Amino acid sequence: MVTGAASGIGRACAEALAARGAHVHVVDLDGERAAEVAATVGGTAHGADLADAAAVDALPYDVDVVVNNAGTQHLAAIEELDPERFALMQRVMVEAPFRILHRTLPAMYARGWGRVVNISSVHGLRASPYKSAYVTAKHALQGLSKVVALEGAAHGVTSNCVNPAYVRTPLVERQVAEQARLHGIDEAEVRSEVFLEHPAIKRLIEPVEVAEAVAWLCGPHTSYLTGSELVLDGGWTAH
Ligand SMILES: NC(=O)c1ccc[n+]([C@@H]2O[C@H](COP(=O)([O-])OP(=O)(O)OC[C@H]3O[C@@H](n4cnc5c(N)ncnc54)[C@H](O)[C@@H]3O)[C@@H](O)[C@H]2O)c1
Repeated sequence: MVTGAASGIGRACAEALAARGAHVHVVDLDGERAAEVAATVGGTAHGADLADAAAVDALPYDVDVVVNNAGTQHLAAIEELDPERFALMQRVMVEAPFRILHRTLPAMYARGWGRVVNISSVHGLRASPYKSAYVTAKHALQGLSKVVALEGAAHGVTSNCVNPAYVRTPLVERQVAEQARLHGIDEAEVRSEVFLEHPAIKRLIEPVEVAEAVAWLCGPHTSYLTGSELVLDGGWTAH
């Protein structure tokens, strides 16, 4: 099951896992695009708002791979960020992953095998200004991932985070104008100076590069890799 699988990284994960034989549950707020992706990968679509606990609790529980990917970004200084927006982002990016794992881990434990991959971010390890809700949510997801690793170890279940820097997806495209306004620079400078300021490798990472790492974590050679993170940040955190 891949959340946020109608676009960007989630879609690439659905494709990479399906290519390795998985029947993928494609979960997304956008049910129409989820259906398109499900048709492409031969999976099953689920239109669901992960901010809605009842919708999350109605998702399939008998799965052996969970990719907690759905997420949103919102840029604002703390004093200007609506607390309701902050709470909404924690519901989608922290509470929903917890609810999904609360319901899916028992089936993985019963089979003695499972893979949990949490799409965190370099912002699960580092902060940036104007991203308090996002940075908080990703750091929380890292904590959840580690506890799942400890509890799941005896049951053949691993849990890891994948931490990309800026990926070429609609989520990044949507923040160009807002970053320009907040930093007082033009949009070209956002691309060169905000997105590529920290990575040593001066390009965005492609969704397929993230998805292939996710698929590797779900494969046969990673059963000793748990409670960890795969940092795809072009050298950002080497500073
Ligand atoms: N793009 C980046 O630079 C980048 C970097 C690091 C981490 N990430 C993380 O990767 C994940 C995917 O991001 P992306 O760049 O592919 O974004 P995207 O906007 O292309 O795709 C996100 C998908 O999640 C879905 N979604 C959003 N809110 C939802 C909700 N409430 N319920 C159900 N579905 C919902 C959207 O409909 C969309 O299809 C996010 O968790 C994001 O934080 C992205």
